[in-house]
Amino acid sequence: MKKVKRRNRGGHFLAHPEEAIAVFKAVRQVVPDEVPITVKLRRAWDDTEDMTAAFHEVFDAIYDLGAAWATVHCRTVEQRYKGPGRWSFLTELRAKHPDRLFFGSGDIWTAEDVFAMLDVTGVTGVSVARGCIGNPWIFRQCRQMMAGHAPAEPTLAEQRDVLLEHLRLSTELHGERGASKMMRKFGIRFAKHHPEGHRVKADFIACDSRAAWHRVLEAHYPTDQSIIPT
Ligand SMILES: Cc1cc2nc3c(=O)[nH]c(=O)nc-3n(C[C@H](O)[C@H](O)[C@H](O)COP(=O)(O)O)c2cc1C
Repeated sequence: MKKVKRRNRGGHFLAHPEEAIAVFKAVRQVVPDEVPITVKLRRAWDDTEDMTAAFHEVFDAIYDLGAAWATVHCRTVEQRYKGPGRWSFLTELRAKHPDRLFFGSGDIWTAEDVFAMLDVTGVTGVSVARGCIGNPWIFRQCRQMMAGHAPAEPTLAEQRDVLLEHLRLSTELHGERGASKMMRKFGIRFAKHHPEGHRVKADFIACDSRAAWHRVLEAHYPTDQSIIPT
């Protein structure tokens, strides 16, 4: 909250709807008409009536001014990430605006959650956030479900390839030492897809060099494509 307030980051504008609308107008003026503009916003600054009204003021204005769509994270700014998102807010927003194209965001951890949010709230689309950290396969799993199949877990070889690519890109950005540390938090998330997740997680946490990462991947992630974790 302090960070958001001090630096006037995104959430700040929900408490100052006139500023939010002015920013949108300014962007719309300079961006060519053929380029769609989308907006991401939380469901309000806090749960007071004034702030709820401020959300609706911004939400209505951006569509009037030509936004292609908005994505609504169904937590308040004040709430940060404490507690669950309020999907019922999205349901109510859909009831209020049956024809508006908007996306929902909040507590999407699995491919099943994507379809649950669509069903429960009636949003046009769903935005995946924390649910794809350590599970970039969630999008493929959604496509599988749309084709009428059960969502398949990635093979260990696929997991290994993605982890190696992630490590490579992270090393490019942060250098070997930085990447070796930075990758730990991602490794922890990836380890959830491994049948021996606890051991793999512990080994990832102990990694302090690129060579160590390669050793752990070598030990736990065989390249045989046919091995699918159970
Ligand atoms: C690491 C991280 C970075 C994020 N960056 C942005 C961002 O740049 N802009 C934004 O509007 N939301 C951002 N979000 C918020 C997410 O898009 C999403 O609305 C929020 O995490 C709620 O969805 P979830 O509960 O499914 O994670 C970020 C979230 C995370 C975890």
